Amino acid sequence: SEPVRVALLGCGVVGSAVARRLQERAGEFEARIGAPLQIIGAAVRDVEKPRPESSLSHDQFTTDAKGLVARADLVIELMGGLEPARELLLHAMSSGAGVITANKLLLGENGPELYEAAERSGVDFYYEAAVAGAIPLLRPLHVSLAGDSVHRVTGIVNGTTNFILDKMDRTGAELEDVLREAQELGYAETDPTADVEGYDARAKAAILASLAFHTRVSSREVHCEGIMAITSEDIRAARMTGHVIKLLAICERVTDADGDAALNVRVHPALMPRSHPLASVREAYNAVFVQTELAGELMFYGPGAGGDPTASAVLGDVVQAARHRVSGGRGPGESAYAGLPVQSIGSA
Ligand code: NDP
Ligand code: HSE
Repeated sequence: SEPVRVALLGCGVVGSAVARRLQERAGEFEARIGAPLQIIGAAVRDVEKPRPESSLSHDQFTTDAKGLVARADLVIELMGGLEPARELLLHAMSSGAGVITANKLLLGENGPELYEAAERSGVDFYYEAAVAGAIPLLRPLHVSLAGDSVHRVTGIVNGTTNFILDKMDRTGAELEDVLREAQELGYAETDPTADVEGYDARAKAAILASLAFHTRVSSREVHCEGIMAITSEDIRAARMTGHVIKLLAICERVTDADGDAALNVRVHPALMPRSHPLASVREAYNAVFVQTELAGELMFYGPGAGGDPTASAVLGDVVQAARHRVSGGRGPGESAYAGLPVQSIGSA
């Protein structure tokens, strides 16, 4: 079969890991997809920056992201931020390319617009890596549980802040010192304010709520408190009473003041008894606890950040979208934002 032409937008921590694995495992991917994947280029800001970990050659880098998108069958967006990512993805969809992204910030702000554009163009639109890194979470939540009724989702969904809080708990270190370490390990956002102020978790909470409750929740509707105010003294005090402090994303069905069903979606630090399953989540791991009517309690656990773990989720989406491309199948049907707008949303 004809090669599937893949454009990579961004070649940093995650993009490099994705590029490298696409090349190292080219034979496996071809066997799984039924056609070879051909990386037609990677858009970056600085083409002269050395990126040996990507295994791409110098002539594969470009600053012309738009030109690259115009020639692609599949676009993998790993540049982050709202613009130009939003415009490029809309452009990709309108020209018939499938889209894979890990950009939770963009999905939290503009998810419905992108979903509708994918629907209109009849292209694949996947973003399994956008919440909880490597953990297969979004498809199970939205597709496998579509016949059940989710009551509540409680998650540790930001690896950087979990790494920081865990290190502070175990070593007595201060927040700023541990944040530097999380940045060096590739867990933090390009601007780590997004992690420590809770904005990253807020976007993920909006995505989780949209998927779990088959509705549309935007980041703007999520109450958000980060961890900047937490000191080593707070951590010690929690420890003395048998607790740990965790940054939680909580999405739950509630009844509003008029007795109508509503959703409450929020992000804030919480005291957890050490015996709680979420209290033992270490380093940059994530865990998401889901309570439903029929299944009861489900726990999803695994690496929530970092190049290779995130690449695992991105590459799964790539295989699925490329298979559709080759077989003529399609569909954003497994994606979020397909439901009706929710009646009302309360925040804490
Ligand atoms: P990095 O900052 O490491 O990489 C971003 C890449 O995008 C860089 O190569 C940068 O180019 C390129 N880029 C940024 N803006 C532009 C632009 N305007 N035009 C062209 N290229 C641009 O980010 P990460 O790899 O860590 O994250 C990428 C995405 O994945 C983000 O959406 C992030 O939220 C998400 N994500 C990250 C995870 C992680 O653990 N790191 C986990 C899950 C999701 P240059 O190098 O030249 O500056
Ligand atoms: N900065 C994010 C985190 C990356 O720490 O969880 C994974 O989405």
